[in-house]
Amino acid sequence: MTASSMLAALADVGRDPARGGYSRPVFAPAELELREWFVAEARRLGLDVETDRNGLIWAWWDAPGRPRTNAVATGSHLDSVPGGGAFDGPLGVVSALAAVEQLQAIGHTSDRPIVVVVFPEEEGSRYGVPCLGSGLLTGTISADRALSLKDEYGDTLAELLDRNGIDPARVGPDPDAVRRIGAFVELHVEQGRGLVDLAEPVAVGRSIIGHGRWKLRFEGHGNHAGTTLMSDRNDPMIPAAQTVLAAETAARAVPGARATVGKLVPVPGGSNVIASTVDVWLDVRHPDESTLAPLVAEISAQADRLAIAAGCRTQVSCESYSPAVHFDPDLIRRCREILPTAALLDTGAGHDAGVLAPYTPSAMLFVRNPSGVSHSPEEYAEDDDVDAGAHALTEVLAKLSATA
Ligand code: GLV
Ligand code: MN
Ligand code: MN
Repeated sequence: MTASSMLAALADVGRDPARGGYSRPVFAPAELELREWFVAEARRLGLDVETDRNGLIWAWWDAPGRPRTNAVATGSHLDSVPGGGAFDGPLGVVSALAAVEQLQAIGHTSDRPIVVVVFPEEEGSRYGVPCLGSGLLTGTISADRALSLKDEYGDTLAELLDRNGIDPARVGPDPDAVRRIGAFVELHVEQGRGLVDLAEPVAVGRSIIGHGRWKLRFEGHGNHAGTTLMSDRNDPMIPAAQTVLAAETAARAVPGARATVGKLVPVPGGSNVIASTVDVWLDVRHPDESTLAPLVAEISAQADRLAIAAGCRTQVSCESYSPAVHFDPDLIRRCREILPTAALLDTGAGHDAGVLAPYTPSAMLFVRNPSGVSHSPEEYAEDDDVDAGAHALTEVLAKLSATA
């Protein structure tokens, strides 16, 4: 099957009628359906499928009895942000399967195993921490911290994994699994305008900018919207809203910076209730980490000042931090030799390839997105570009696996 026809087959899974687009939180019914679909498709191709102790799915194409070392790995994720597009994650998974199918069709043989990997909770939309699967695999996040993370219903990751047949006691770094990978190439839909004006549908990734998520809690005094005079209030919504504006102003003053508040939760959240607490999630990114840290410090200091002025208190905690990543220069060079017309792109989006990069040579391929929009139902790729991306990945897997 082609990558575009596989994507079309998934078009109804996890549609979100309220938000538009797709909502596929990790291990919720839609993502579980995609995981089952992946296992069935991988088995149809004769791949040997295993789910590891961190919930990653590995689908191996190799000769029985051969050692699983120096594998050429590819893959991506199946979970989505709330109301996301159809391509962010699944494009890399279907392209990987289509590439393997194509290599089988042309009778490709290799001493190096090829393996397709599905990473759980790449977006962090359920537990707040992105790239949780690859983070656990590599030890970038500790098992203790990850297992105690709670989703919006108060369900811990430990409980969720347990319900899905993954033993929480065995979750954690898996250096033996990582050591099996000799090179990792993740294909992903381009999430900005990097390819929009180019004649090429595919680019090779060069770097991911540093990025992190901070939770700012504003605590005030819950009260009645009608009986509490303006002069008698300690309303945490006021410094929360002012901090949103302060973050925007601060980031605009720093070339290359991006600061976003995409989620804000007032408690208890009634339209005639002055909130007692407001939680604000701040996402800040910059290519240069020595610029990113002071920017976050400045926004946090402003949040403190604004809270004090409103008679409120703040607590700031870092929920995740992903340092800037420069993909493996030799692997980039190989990919560009194989795809000589592909552009070279840096990205502001995080990926499992970025988490794996310090542990094994990693690189990425990006597929043109003519809307230039992502994390939105407007994210898009033409079928021809989807299939060109899968073809590019096929070439990369074929050539990489042909050499030690
Ligand atoms: C993941 O897509 C991220 O960059 O937030
Ligand atoms: Mn994403
Ligand atoms: Mn993604």
